[in-house]
Amino acid sequence: MAGFQMLFLLVLSCVAASLRSPRQLPPCQVVQMDVFCSDLSLRSAPVNLPHGIQMLDLSRNMLQNLTHETLAFHTSLHQLNLHSNKIHFIQPGLFKDMANLKVLDLSRNYLDVFAHSKTNIGPLTAVESLDLSSNGLYTGMTDYFIGESPSLANLSLNGNSITKIAKNTFCGSLALRNINLHNNVILEIEDGAFDTLLHLTELDLSKNSITCITDFNLSQLKVLNLSKNSMETFQTTDSDIVYDLLYLDLSENKIPYFPLLPRRNKLMYLDVSRNRLRSVNVTGTAEELANFGDTFLAHAPPDSSTRHQIFSNLIYLDLSYNQIKSIPHSFFCSMISLEVLNVSNNCIGSFFVDQEGLLENLKVLDLSYNALQKLSFEENTLQSLEELFLQGNVLTTLDPRIFQRLPSIKSLQLQQNDLKICVSQQKQTKPPLKYQNHYNPPGCVAFSSVPTLQFLYLSENNLKALPEFAFYNTPLKLLDLSLNPGLEMDPNSLSGLENSLVHLYLRENNISKLNTDLSSLSSLKFVDLSTNQLTTLPLWNKESSIESLNLQNNNLVTLEYNTVLALERSLKTLYMGSNPLSCCSNLRFLHMVQRSAVVVPDIETVTCVYPQDSEPVNIERVTHELCHTLDNRSVSIIVIVVIVVVVLIIVLGLLFKLCHSRRRKHNRSFNA
Ligand SMILES: *[C@@H]1O[C@H](CO)[C@@H](O)[C@H](O)[C@H]1NC(C)=O
Ligand SMILES: *[C@@H]1O[C@H](CO)[C@@H](O)[C@H](O)[C@H]1NC(C)=O
Ligand SMILES: *[C@@H]1O[C@H](CO)[C@@H](O)[C@H](O)[C@H]1NC(C)=O
Ligand SMILES: *[C@@H]1O[C@H](CO)[C@@H](O)[C@H](O)[C@H]1NC(C)=O
Ligand SMILES: *[C@@H]1O[C@H](CO)[C@@H](O)[C@H](O)[C@H]1NC(C)=O
Repeated sequence: MAGFQMLFLLVLSCVAASLRSPRQLPPCQVVQMDVFCSDLSLRSAPVNLPHGIQMLDLSRNMLQNLTHETLAFHTSLHQLNLHSNKIHFIQPGLFKDMANLKVLDLSRNYLDVFAHSKTNIGPLTAVESLDLSSNGLYTGMTDYFIGESPSLANLSLNGNSITKIAKNTFCGSLALRNINLHNNVILEIEDGAFDTLLHLTELDLSKNSITCITDFNLSQLKVLNLSKNSMETFQTTDSDIVYDLLYLDLSENKIPYFPLLPRRNKLMYLDVSRNRLRSVNVTGTAEELANFGDTFLAHAPPDSSTRHQIFSNLIYLDLSYNQIKSIPHSFFCSMISLEVLNVSNNCIGSFFVDQEGLLENLKVLDLSYNALQKLSFEENTLQSLEELFLQGNVLTTLDPRIFQRLPSIKSLQLQQNDLKICVSQQKQTKPPLKYQNHYNPPGCVAFSSVPTLQFLYLSENNLKALPEFAFYNTPLKLLDLSLNPGLEMDPNSLSGLENSLVHLYLRENNISKLNTDLSSLSSLKFVDLSTNQLTTLPLWNKESSIESLNLQNNNLVTLEYNTVLALERSLKTLYMGSNPLSCCSNLRFLHMVQRSAVVVPDIETVTCVYPQDSEPVNIERVTHELCHTLDNRSVSIIVIVVIVVVVLIIVLGLLFKLCHSRRRKHNRSFNA
């Protein structure tokens, strides 16, 4: 309905325009007071546009010389989009008469050429948002554009070649709230360059060449992005002023010590990832400093190493990709709001949370790809933790009940460690005591009775045994046991997951026979059994609910009729490539594929062989007739053999009868 209305208006305005001017219709789209002339190879605005238009989009055209004429004398504009033209000249004072112009986009033009002429574009009286990105502008050139822009709130200078922010750069645009200087080559910011901008709340200085900030004092700033510079130090002026800073991005720099942040802050988001932090200290120890020389000491306030930083509003802290070896408890004491802590890809060897109430709001903890050998959480810590990432460490032994202590845990990523799994304590039926050690290896971890756990990743752990009832009372939805070659699964290992398990991954486990009954898992939908040694599939004794099954790269020759029958109802996707299938003993399965009842994404690699032929054939080319003719031939051989035998018997019978009757005749003649 709305679309129809718009179309109607469009047609109407085009008709109105054509009535007003007898010349051809403008090629632009006119929707009420908005005119869209993008991508039309125009050198100027069409002359016959309706009067009083508010929005004019001339982006991606060929405008070169921006004058009253090229804009067809429209002064009522609120919004003017000139992005991606070839503008290298702007008539001075052009925008002075546009009292309503609020949004001006001049990005991707050649305004450096204009700036070379050392001319001012004149006042931008009402402009609130100005985009000058990608214009080849360098230091000092902005003066010609923003020298008289009292209403300017948003300024983008993204993708220029500015090397220095001088003290007076923004003195003609004191209303600025948001400055984007991303992707320049800024090396220097003069003292006080932003100090006069009392409303400045967002400053993006990412992707520049800034090396240090030693006296950060913009207390009204809310968002500061210094990502992708060459920063070696970030330090705040020592003061008791409350800073409004909420987001600070210091990622991808060269910072060796934890940044010195405002004493009284509201910081919610702090990213110091991909730096050179060796610890979370704000300065190095005496010996580290000796190694580094005194470069950093020179900038640090004398008491900074002992200065206690308080982050009571911090929600997100990213310290990933540094060289941190350990983090003391005291570091987290003030972080009562922290929800996400990312310390992945460091060199941490042990991590303990043993103080009650510590990190009690933490939901996500990423400790992946460290050198963790020791990990422990005490009772009543990490009560909100939902996702724990521990992959890529060297964990071998853990307190068996470590995960039972996390009352909110949903997802555990434990792949690429060296863990062992304990038998469920409640449900232990087997091992008599003398075998206990065999079934409960020392240092094993229990995954039973973790009632909140849904996602468990245990691939690449060199697991040898999966004991019975390993996940009893733990309603897993996803279980990944892949890449544990030689894993022996107890037939009851998955007991307890009957109603919960949806994803089961057993890839690359060198399994030759699956001895667990997957059909008892009534929620199971996604099963990966690829790259094993399976020669048969287990008999499905009930109707399965599996939707996606990966059997690639096994030793399957035949899919049992009953298996196909059980799968047929639910199966949508089947991976079957690289198996030595037999063509004629899988006709039911081939029929299922050829009917497109199931999608076989790797069908190109699914081949089978005929009994009399050793060359594999793609299963799409298998014909039933070839198997049938084989059958017919054998049937006819049998028939011929039977006929020959019958004929022989009859002939022999007849011969015998003949001889017998002759002899009787002979005898009778004797009698006579
Ligand atoms: C742009 O147009 C104006 C007015 O038509 C003219 O005076 C000026 O020389 C032109 N400038 C360039 C660089 O073409
Ligand atoms: C200025 O930028 C902010 C955030 O980037 C945006 O929400 C606001 O609408 C912009 N103001 C104008 C006038 O474009
Ligand atoms: C900071 O800038 C980088 C690079 O442009 C960007 O990827 C990142 O999302 C920005 N950070 C924030 C907090 O906006
Ligand atoms: C932690 O940081 C790494 C590297 O930046 C990233 O790949 C990973 O997804 C992050 N973890 C979380 C839980 O966001
Ligand atoms: C895989 O199993 C076969 C026997 O089924 C065995 O010979 C081979 O060593 C096993 N390979 C691995 C890596 O466990």
